[in-house]
Amino acid sequence: MRRKLAAGNWKMNGTKAALAELDAMAEAAKGDAEVLICPPATLVDAACGKGVLIGGQDCHAEASGAHTGDISAAMLKDAGATHVILGHSERRMDHDEHDEHVRAKCKAAWDAGLVVVLCCGESLAQREAQNTLDIIGGQLAGSIPDGATGHSLVVAYEPIWAIGTGKVPTMDQIGEVHDFIRSRLEKRFGEGVGRSVRLLYGGSVKPSNAAEIFAVSNVDGALVGGASLKAADFVPIIDALNASA
Ligand code: PGA
Repeated sequence: MRRKLAAGNWKMNGTKAALAELDAMAEAAKGDAEVLICPPATLVDAACGKGVLIGGQDCHAEASGAHTGDISAAMLKDAGATHVILGHSERRMDHDEHDEHVRAKCKAAWDAGLVVVLCCGESLAQREAQNTLDIIGGQLAGSIPDGATGHSLVVAYEPIWAIGTGKVPTMDQIGEVHDFIRSRLEKRFGEGVGRSVRLLYGGSVKPSNAAEIFAVSNVDGALVGGASLKAADFVPIIDALNASA
């Protein structure tokens, strides 16, 4: 059985005052689902030990060296993180990250003992051209190194056009992509590993649509941006995940 996961991506939001939100989230985290918050790197250390899992939002592919401004996977681990988001579309766009960079970062994260939350997703133009599954298949093939296990990898499907826009795919569209990701993982890593990797949906998840999304086949949780910043929004999402079958 796959354990449900409610993951929050705070992006470039939050100073120390935001850590107060974690208290109510920690209460909700006492249910069956795991709760993960990925705050800005400046807050990782202070956020640990507050009752939710803590992750980074990116890491460098190398363990150390002359890379001004970057953070290694080992540094995240040392600060108390257990997870790291890799390949988010904002990183792919803002920092020109491609599958080969993401793949190298995955290896670095695994070497440091972190669980990777790997993001994939199509643009609106790619969906309209009916290329969604090809794009997702290519991202999975290119971004995931060999050697994945259910303990090392979580895959988040995040259509770029749904991130921060309030637009959400239909439940059929989410189900189609999640079933496709599951079948690709089973083909590549075998049924055991392929079935044990958790698949999250991300993109405009809110308290009002969470339950419907969590009922979709092969949706094991969510990667939530804006609605993870405040406990008042994120706790109902965690509760909806705990209430889902
Ligand atoms: P959103 O972001 O929930 O604000 O749409 C999701 C994400 O980018 O992970």
